[in-house]
Amino acid sequence: MKILLTGGTGYIGSHTAIELIKEGHEVEILDNLFNSKITVLDRIQEISGVKPKFYEVDMLDKEALDKVFAEGNYDIVFHFAGLKAVGESVEKPIRYYENNLGSTINMLDCMKKYSVNKLIFSSSATVYGEQPVAELTEDMQTGVGITNPYGRTKYMIEEIIKDVVISNPNFEATILRYFNPVGAHPSGLIGEDPNDIPNNLMPIIMKVSTGELPCLSIYGNDYDTPDGTGIRDYIHIVDLAKGHVASMQKMKPGVNIYNLGTGKGTSVLEMVEAFEKASGKKLNTKIAPRRAGDLAEVYANPTKAEKELGWKTELTITDAMKDTINYLNHLAK
Ligand code: NAD
Ligand code: UFG
Repeated sequence: MKILLTGGTGYIGSHTAIELIKEGHEVEILDNLFNSKITVLDRIQEISGVKPKFYEVDMLDKEALDKVFAEGNYDIVFHFAGLKAVGESVEKPIRYYENNLGSTINMLDCMKKYSVNKLIFSSSATVYGEQPVAELTEDMQTGVGITNPYGRTKYMIEEIIKDVVISNPNFEATILRYFNPVGAHPSGLIGEDPNDIPNNLMPIIMKVSTGELPCLSIYGNDYDTPDGTGIRDYIHIVDLAKGHVASMQKMKPGVNIYNLGTGKGTSVLEMVEAFEKASGKKLNTKIAPRRAGDLAEVYANPTKAEKELGWKTELTITDAMKDTINYLNHLAK
């Protein structure tokens, strides 16, 4: 298959590129490098032996995007590109709606023009909003109780994709709702390396361990969970990348939605302990007030992906921590 990865130099896109190349697919990458680095392409080559063709394009620039599609003759698009900082989206909602919705609409228009009828979209567990239970299944209602504009862009894009499929019976869309991706490639050559100040747990733990940040604030230890800290479903990035390959192999007509998660929740304190155990270093932490909009406990029910895609996670939190530390050691060289 000839595949376009939008946002493909980013964290999830770059790991997925490697798994797709391994399976013999032809991968091209488009990114505006807002939150990733061009050097990722060399790392992908080091790991896979292939340097994907790269377009430095902002997807809001429709003319430039059209040129990519005109040249590409793609069989399928994986749409990773987007802004993803929850807190920033509250401060700059227009920027988030403009970037995430605008880039998707431009892409869908190009896909229509050039008859590219297969799409895999990076959605998020955030679309479930607040639910009465912690374990989330794909058939639950979405869109209610989402606490930030970022999450709402994901929900809105899901709805736009559903409408596109209604309008074009030849269009096949797979929506992947990611839980919390962590870890790095076992080579240590690529991992999560955001250009901005991170606000997710794992990148912050990494920066505290290297001394770039002084301390990890644990947002609340008074939740109704066994140790009082928030619980999430942390999925190893390589498992997540393999989930994309499985999704592509099992594409079918209509819109199909899958949770990509482990099915198991881990608390913030357990994550800190796992990192300390793997690194042999104590992390500087402090208990801070709850973060606005955070839920106590969220994890995936991944049964549908296992049944329909033949995919399930294989790696553990310990693997993720080891691979993160290996990646940090490479960054320090
Ligand atoms: P990332 O920031 O590492 O990668 C996204 C890439 O998109 C970046 O390289 C960025 O430069 C690019 N981009 C953004 N706007 C663009 C534009 N207008 N034109 C071209 N390129 C643009 O993020 P990631 O963690 O790899 O996430 C990939 C996708 O998965 C995102 O859509 C994100 O919202 C979604 N997602 C991520 C998580 C997570 O925790 N990492 C969880 C759920 C969903
Ligand atoms: N946390 C801390 N301190 C920090 C950062 C996070 O204690 O400095 C805690 C949070 O309170 C939460 C857990 O660590 O309990 C995970 O927080 P993240 O910010 O890493 O992840 P979230 O679950 O809040 O959100 C992430 C992505 C969203 C995505 C969502 C899907 O950031 O894009 O997962 O579940 F939508």
